[in-house]
Amino acid sequence: MKYVRSSSKKYLPSKEAKRISLAPEDIYKKAEKSKIKFWANLAREGISWIKPFTKDYEQTSEKFSWFKDGKLNLCYNALDRNLDTPKNPAIIFIPENVKEKKQTLSYLQLYESVNEAAFLLRKKGIKKGDVVSIYMPPMIEALIFMLACARIGAIHSVVFSAFSAEALRTRIKDGKAKILISCNYYFRKGEKIFLTKKIKKACRKIKIKKIIIDRKKTGKIFVKKNTPIIPPEPMNAEDTAFILYTSGTTGKPKGVMHAIGGYAVQAYWSGKYIFNLKRNETMWCTADIGWITGHTYACYAPLLNKATTVLFEGMPTHPTPDRFLKIIKENKINVFYTAPTALRMFAMQDNFTSKYALKSLKILGTVGEPIDKETWNWLFKKIGKGRCPIIDTYWQTETGSAVIDALPGHGPFIPSYAGKPFPGIDYSIINKKGKKAKSKEEGLLVQIPPFSPSLIRGVWNNPQRYKKYFIKGKYDSGDNAFYDNEGNFRILGRSDDIIKVAGHRMSTAEIEDAITSLPEVIEAAIVGKSDKIKGMIVAAFVKTKKPITEKKIIERVIKKIGPLSKPSEIYFVKDLPKTRSGKIMRRILKGLLEGEEIKNLSTLLNPESVEKIKVLIKKELPKKK
Ligand code: WT7
Repeated sequence: MKYVRSSSKKYLPSKEAKRISLAPEDIYKKAEKSKIKFWANLAREGISWIKPFTKDYEQTSEKFSWFKDGKLNLCYNALDRNLDTPKNPAIIFIPENVKEKKQTLSYLQLYESVNEAAFLLRKKGIKKGDVVSIYMPPMIEALIFMLACARIGAIHSVVFSAFSAEALRTRIKDGKAKILISCNYYFRKGEKIFLTKKIKKACRKIKIKKIIIDRKKTGKIFVKKNTPIIPPEPMNAEDTAFILYTSGTTGKPKGVMHAIGGYAVQAYWSGKYIFNLKRNETMWCTADIGWITGHTYACYAPLLNKATTVLFEGMPTHPTPDRFLKIIKENKINVFYTAPTALRMFAMQDNFTSKYALKSLKILGTVGEPIDKETWNWLFKKIGKGRCPIIDTYWQTETGSAVIDALPGHGPFIPSYAGKPFPGIDYSIINKKGKKAKSKEEGLLVQIPPFSPSLIRGVWNNPQRYKKYFIKGKYDSGDNAFYDNEGNFRILGRSDDIIKVAGHRMSTAEIEDAITSLPEVIEAAIVGKSDKIKGMIVAAFVKTKKPITEKKIIERVIKKIGPLSKPSEIYFVKDLPKTRSGKIMRRILKGLLEGEEIKNLSTLLNPESVEKIKVLIKKELPKKK
């Protein structure tokens, strides 16, 4: 056993676990001396620079930069410099259909494919700084094109493939994308999911070039030889690596911008120190490439570290619930990184874990939402068999890499706690009075300067929105949390109008806008309701002027955003509780759904609405189960 229980709550690494850990024992102490020097040293050691930087960190109010005068190329760091071991596997692609063969691409093969895709992008007129939309499931070409963009200095904007045509259209338009890369179909739960119609609809009357990959030929498209070499474009460290749209507190998604230098440095070192990534280590991050987790830990961090990344096309429970364990076993996965929702789903059906020894596993990671103690213990005992640490990684689209997490050779690993800030990064908690919280006191989680290298640099087309991330010189995460007296953080959930459903981030305003776009609807309020598997589900309170079916509401949300955001419960109400200034009190609605007692209604405009909704929920809820 490599991980030992030190008290009723905590686990600590054994000597052996400490020995194999890639993060030095004194790493926290080293980082504490000077965070800026610490990162500058890591940047020099981990990343290959075309022109070395002389400036490390600079900041004026909310604008900050890392390694500003340095030049580098992200693709060069992920591929070219790893060609000293050309046969080393870079990607293992596993189709959902068990009859289809898996495909392994070596670093050399991936390099050649990326070079060819870069050549194709150039041929299509794509230049440095242009935006390229990628609307694809996790398949080989998604990574090929991401890296091809990085090679020529184009900015990729990956859009989750289950988003609707309208959601894709909004992102293409906001990004002013010059080209769309997509595929004709893919497999999910045994079904063929077609993208062709959605692509057509999304691009109607927009001037945009397209490359549509045939799913049947995945992995075999860019195998031509003798393409001229496309040299990696020397990029400034602060140039934009990519944008990724995410939900905010308004109806409009935000294009979160990441800088090449800081992102490369933190993706590399977080991969090394959190997951012990190195040559011949195989990591399976189950997140879709459409989310930041997929960007950083299914693509950049493993490749920057010369490790092998596993891409799986579909549902890890298809065709049988133990599919994910088969994948771990057959591919000798060392690092398995997934979301608590997926784990709760696996645990619920578990009568199979005892049949798998899973000896290759070294590290288990979770991300996206808090992990409950029960699921943590199941993962530790049934999957890790007590040999692997559970690394609960807290981060966001905006932070680019994991920022709060225990390190495998350091710990402690405490169920439901994410752990300490990554070395060189400082987080704090601000209480209601605006002061630093005491231990165990709940408050707002904020990052303290110097800001972490891969933190957001801007919101695409919206500089005003970027400024809102910062309060009194600190980066506001929008999450509530507390720390224990040893400085381990426990994340409690969002402090704003964002909800996390099965680890996916959605904005209540965006779903409300979709519903109120129906002519029958006057107003809608969306809240998250606790759920045993998904952590949270979407509940909608809808005020109508004409009757409308639940089905129509659901269809509208799917059309405007996608199936992930559809409400699981809908309540038709006569009135929504509001403050005197007209703000809908979602907190009260949530309390009612959770069966809490609602106190102090004195500030409401219409306190009587609360009792009515309470009665309605009581009447309707049994029908919804
Ligand atoms: C939000 C960010 C970047 C990871 C994927 C999600 C929540 C993330 C944890 C965790 C508790 C977590 C926060 C955060 N979150 N990780 N380990 N424990 N909550 O990225 O879609 O930008 O969502 O996910 O609420 O703000 P995202």
